[in-house]
Amino acid sequence: MKEVVLGLLGLGNIGGGVWDLIRTFGDEVETRTGIRLRVKKALVLDKRIHGGHEVPEEVLTTERADILEDPEIQIVCEFLGGEQPAASMMQRALENGKSVVTANKMALSLHFDELRAMAARTGAGLYYEASVGGAIPIINAIQSPLIANHIEQIMGIVNGTTNYILTRMAAEGAEYETILKDAQRLGLAEPNPAADVEGMDAAYKLSILGSLAFHSRIRMEDIYREGITRVTAEDISFGREMGYVLKLLAIGKDNGDSIEARVHPAFLPADHPLARVDGSLNAVYLYGHAFKDMMLEGRGAGDAPTASAIVGDIIQAAQNAVHPMPWLREDALPVADNWQSKYFIRMKAKDAPGVLAEVTGLLAGEGISVSAMMQKGAAPGGKATLIVITHIAPEKAVRRVVQALNPEICQVENVIRVEG
Ligand code: HSE
Repeated sequence: MKEVVLGLLGLGNIGGGVWDLIRTFGDEVETRTGIRLRVKKALVLDKRIHGGHEVPEEVLTTERADILEDPEIQIVCEFLGGEQPAASMMQRALENGKSVVTANKMALSLHFDELRAMAARTGAGLYYEASVGGAIPIINAIQSPLIANHIEQIMGIVNGTTNYILTRMAAEGAEYETILKDAQRLGLAEPNPAADVEGMDAAYKLSILGSLAFHSRIRMEDIYREGITRVTAEDISFGREMGYVLKLLAIGKDNGDSIEARVHPAFLPADHPLARVDGSLNAVYLYGHAFKDMMLEGRGAGDAPTASAIVGDIIQAAQNAVHPMPWLREDALPVADNWQSKYFIRMKAKDAPGVLAEVTGLLAGEGISVSAMMQKGAAPGGKATLIVITHIAPEKAVRRVVQALNPEICQVENVIRVEG
């Protein structure tokens, strides 16, 4: 039996979940691995509040040095969330030769280079399976069993809150604001939902996942990002009539000389594997030259699923004589801003002769071909809803068409990319 001494930075939902998993399942983990996990210290703000978890008084501390500077502590697990002080505390732990396990996608994405450099310098390990997709072992999969592949594409539903909202909007024909309020009431969306609904959370995750998948650093500021706040029940129901399901996707593509990295709502054909991933579930769909296509699906949040990935990382950190360090090219590929997609364009158009000709004329002028079209609520002289779905076209050309349309006769109400 080998004892491994842990320090926990934070004892909230995730920290508490890890504490509980070690307490209830630690003996079994020891039987399976020969490793006994002992939590020596857990950093809390106030010793009187520790989330109802049965933590002995002597384990609790309010001093970070009790963890970061204690030579007996071998692995530091960071559960503080947010950028700082989490990033600098992880940096200090690595500097002191302690391996770090974290689920903190924000600190990791923003400080990936410094943290990796420090881990490389001191030989400590940096493990972050839980930072993307919660319990789904996607980080390990990319770095180990799938390493003999050129991964060309990743497409993920990596934010449970927005997937829950979109799933309910689709099921109930309800508007975004109504479902958001209900999700907040149920504790499934934060009181300040911006990080989730504006796509920040998904972008942090894409930054980490894409950097590893394409071996080229993708920075947060390079990622195109659009959230779900402008999606309407009408978009979803018209999309469905035309055979599509709406999801918030984190998309990464390796185009050889550049990378695409974008987070935005997108329609997927109803028979795409990601289209049936509903509620708060997460899933990542990948394409690699040798494994072809694959999808991993599971719980992306929650204390127990996240703890599952964290304890897995702790065991790997304890077992590895040499900690793995992902290889990233030094000359990072540029992140493209000129990608192509198919587009769903929803317009309110005057129901009069020549309107359709104007729309299709502008599209034709940009070399954009129409793949499907639908008109609803037509009444001569009134306004009709017009939906156009294009074939693959450059995004910039589609934007030019939207700009050029005369709003007197045709107002573009939403443009949504169609992927898959
Ligand atoms: N806020 C995230 C989500 C969970 O809604 O999926 C943690 O990454």
